[in-house]
Amino acid sequence: MTWTVCSQLGRVSRLAKAKVSRPTAPGPFERRRFAAPSAPRPPDGFGVCEEFVSLREEQILLDEVEPSFRKMKFQFDHWDDAIHGYHEIEREKWSAEAASLLHRVFETAFGTRSEVSPLIHILDLDAHGYIKPHVDSIKFCGNTIAGLSLLSTCVIRFVHEGTAEQMDMLLKRRSFYIMRDKVRYMFTHEILKNEESYYEGKHIPRSRRIAIICRNFPEEKT
Ligand code: OGA
Ligand code: MN
Repeated sequence: MTWTVCSQLGRVSRLAKAKVSRPTAPGPFERRRFAAPSAPRPPDGFGVCEEFVSLREEQILLDEVEPSFRKMKFQFDHWDDAIHGYHEIEREKWSAEAASLLHRVFETAFGTRSEVSPLIHILDLDAHGYIKPHVDSIKFCGNTIAGLSLLSTCVIRFVHEGTAEQMDMLLKRRSFYIMRDKVRYMFTHEILKNEESYYEGKHIPRSRRIAIICRNFPEEKT
């Protein structure tokens, strides 16, 4: 199977049919460091690891991806898009330094358990940009979505598609999150816009945010 270009990552609407795949046991790293944040309770299958990369490591990654964005304009006009105020690329080739950082990302999120896309998705969200509620395409992406949040802290909101239960989690700058199985299929996720960016009653100011997102492939149907 070949991976698709970004525009086909196909963020599907909140009405997307939820499909639950075989649960995957967390690896040892996940058990150790992906402790559930104290409060509020995270949805099943969600883990976040703060300070996953250092300031220096963040800079290495930014130096590598930012030139690709320099000539691109942020897209705001598409009312139908799942994302407002963004641009994005997919990238396969990295410097040795960045590749070794990304190796840590891959190992943490996927171990050797599933087939991972070598194309890494980089999403550059303007300070006024936001991501509307959506579920990533079940056709193109597998049971795990993992992301490094660079430059700005933000709030990610999960809403259960059946019960409308809502959970907000903080994604600090330089943190790494994993969404697996239940939270990936049964909940929509969204990144809140600056005006709505509150966590436990406190405003979390949004500035430009670059996310480096890895996904595995869906399992082949036999
Ligand atoms: C997406 C998405 C999350 C993030 O691109 O589909 O949900 O962390 N991104 O930016
Ligand atoms: Mn998504």
